[in-house]
Parts: sequence; structure tokens; C-alpha cells
Amino acid sequence: MAGLRENYFPGLEGVMVNESALSFVNGAEGKLFYCGYGIEELASNCSFEEVAYLLIYRELPTASELEAFKAKLVAERYLDPHLKAIIVLTPKQGHPMAVLQAMLAQLAMHDPEIADRSIEARRRKAIRIIAKMPLIVTYFDNLRHRDRTVVRRDDLSHAANILYMLTGKVPSPEEERIFDVALTLHMDHGCNNSTFTARVVASTEADIFASVIAAVGSLSGPLHGGANERVIEMLAKIDSIDEVEAFVVNLLETKTKIMGFGHRVYKTMDPRAVILQELADALAKTKQSDGDLGIAMKFMEVARHKLDALGKRDIWPNVDFFSGVVYKTLGLPQDFFTPVFAISRVVGWIAHYMEQMEGNRIYRPRLNYIGRELGSPFVPIEKR
Ligand code: SDX
Repeated sequence: MAGLRENYFPGLEGVMVNESALSFVNGAEGKLFYCGYGIEELASNCSFEEVAYLLIYRELPTASELEAFKAKLVAERYLDPHLKAIIVLTPKQGHPMAVLQAMLAQLAMHDPEIADRSIEARRRKAIRIIAKMPLIVTYFDNLRHRDRTVVRRDDLSHAANILYMLTGKVPSPEEERIFDVALTLHMDHGCNNSTFTARVVASTEADIFASVIAAVGSLSGPLHGGANERVIEMLAKIDSIDEVEAFVVNLLETKTKIMGFGHRVYKTMDPRAVILQELADALAKTKQSDGDLGIAMKFMEVARHKLDALGKRDIWPNVDFFSGVVYKTLGLPQDFFTPVFAISRVVGWIAHYMEQMEGNRIYRPRLNYIGRELGSPFVPIEKR
């Protein structure tokens, strides 16, 4: 007899798998909170480092705590020569997300505290991971452009140094602020697939590196963090605003998933998309380049109208719809959009790893068996 169906929730939709004090997503009203604070307030008033501190320590830092935290991140803002040598050998056609997974495994093998499970060692490893992930991908990108070797700048903020290393130019205060906010917006988001992956691996008491490496793999998928890259690919197929309506109609008629739209929890506009749309608008004004934004805005208007007409009222732009427009306008390479998501979301993965270890029980769900009759008679190979 097939397995019981009353406990069967495809994709674990709506299933609570643990308790958490880290972030809360109000899908009906389109609200997001980190440790109880509204994302809008954090995005307006805090830096990436301040919000990262909040998620890891679950308290907003004092000025001196923040300075000490920043100093720890800068002190780890380097890659050992042997790690750089391995990146040199990495195939240049590799996707930066695969490079991240490979190099995080290298970081783990070289970490002096890999075997230390104490909370203090965990926090020091966390600092190393957060500080070094951006360097891995930016060093890899520099190698792809043989004409460019950009050395990190310890006097720049976390966000500014990443932009500097990716573009070779120190960002303007406006660019730094916009990118910093974008990093904050991506930092944590309840039990999304990659964070759940991090918690599942953590629940076996594997090391924090193993948990982050697995989460990077999850985030790379086009239905999750990989969507931001595909949004820009999708918008690039539209040459002018006049073509948007026909393009959207074709997507819907062919039942093609609209990248950057829809969400398992949000049934209205993703609050992060609201802020990212404003950031994209602000950037377009400073850069006098609104090509993608104009088309993206028209796309959003038409897609929402057409989805409404189809009765699909709860499919709205998510965090990935405008993030690619912001990153492209900032001059980031397209295959870096998802790694940028990862170098921010790693703070959330680490925070959830630590929380999982506080009251851990290994995850082990069930599968509803629908296979061959149980106890079927075995037929030896000579009689098959
Ligand atoms: C992220 O979970 C998180 O919090 C994730 C995230 C985070 O911060 O960690 O917010 C980041 O991953 C955002 C999502 C990025 N992915 C995309 O933009 C890819 C496109 N979106 C879809 O694939 C989809 O919306 C998901 C995967 C995001 C959610 O899928 P669900 O909840 O499983 O919904 P579903 O596939 O069951 O769809 C329900 C209905 C279906 O219609 P019917 O078959 O019932 O007629 O809604 C339709 C779907 O066809 N639908 C879409 C759609 N998303 C859902 N139709 C067209 N385009 C879409 N994007």
C-alpha cells in the first residue's frame, strides 16, 4: 500500500520545521523583519556590517562593537597565496558560483580551527567566510580579465571594496550606499531553500563550511538565487518598450515562468523589490542610463496587468526582478549577480547554522512511497 498522504506537503509548503528568532516574512502584507526590526529601517539607517552583526549576535551593535566587528572583517580581508594559486588553475569558463563552492572547500581545508566546534571558533570562522567570499569571486574575475589586477582596499567598507575589486574604480558615495543597501536586503529571508539547506547540513553537525558550501549550491538554481541573472537575460531580449506587451503575452501563452516574479510566501510585492526599484531609479538618474529600468518598469506594469486578468493576483515581482538592473547599472558582470546574492546571504546562512546548533535535531522527513508493490517476487538475472 502506498505511503500515508495526510502528512504530504509538496515542497514542504507551509510546513514549520523549526523555531527561529532571526527573520520573519509576512507574505500577505509584504513585510520583512530581521530580529524584529523592519527591513526598511535597517536599509535606511544601517550598513552591511551593522546588519551582519545584528544577525550573528542578534543585537544591534554599539559604536565600539561595530568598529571592532569591522576591524575583524578587514583583518581577514585577504587570500593566502596558495588559495590564489588554486584560483589561477580554475577553468575561466567556470561559473563564479561553482568557484565559490570549490574555494570554500579549500578555505575549510586550510582553516586552522576547522575541528573546533566552540561558539567562539564558529564566530571566527564566520568572519573569515564573510570576509573572504567576495575576494574569491573578485580575484577570479580579475584573472578572467588579464589586463586587470585590482588589490583590495582596507580603507573601504565591505560593500565599497567589493565594487572596487569588481570594477577597478572606487565607487561614488551614492553607488556605495546603493550597493550596501542591496547587500542588506539579501542577507536573510526566513526558511528559503538555501537557508533550509544550510540548516539541514548543520543538523548533522557538519562544519559551518560544509553548510555554506551546500547553501551556495542551492542558491545557484534559477528558481532561487539564479533568477536575477535570468531576469537580465530576459529583459535583454526586449529591444524597446513597444515590444514589452507582446513579449509578456508570449511568456504567458507558452506558460513560461516569468523570472523575477512569484514567491512561495509573498502574495504581494516583495518589500525588497520595492526598495530595489527605488535604488534602480536613483542609479538611473545618476548614470543617465535608464535603458533596462524603463523596460523593466514597463514589463512589471504589463505582467501584473496580464496576470491579474488571468486571475493570478498573487504573482508579483520578487527580490530578483530589480536586483539585476541595479547590479548591471553598477557595472557588475552578469554572472556575478548570483554570487553577490551569496556573499550577502552567507550572513543569514551562518546565523541560521548557529541557531540550528542551539537546539538541534537532525532533519529527516519522509517520502510518500508510490513504487513497485512492496515485497514483489525477486526474479534471478538468468530468468529476466
Ligand atoms: C528567491 O523562498 C525565498 O524566500 C526565496 C527568496 C530569498 O530571499 O531567499 O525570496 C529569493 O528565490 C526569489 C524567487 C526567485 N525565483 C524566480 O523568480 C523564478 C520564477 N518564480 C517561480 O519559479 C516561482 O514563483 C517560485 C519558485 C519562486 C515559487 O514557486 P511556488 O511557490 O512553488 O509556486 P508554483 O510554482 O507552485 O506556482 C503556483 C502557480 C502556478 O500556476 P498554476 O500551475 O497553478 O496555474 O503560480 C504560477 C505557476 O505557474 N507561477 C508563475 C510564476 N510563479 C508561479 N507563473 C508565471 N511566472 C512565474 N514566475
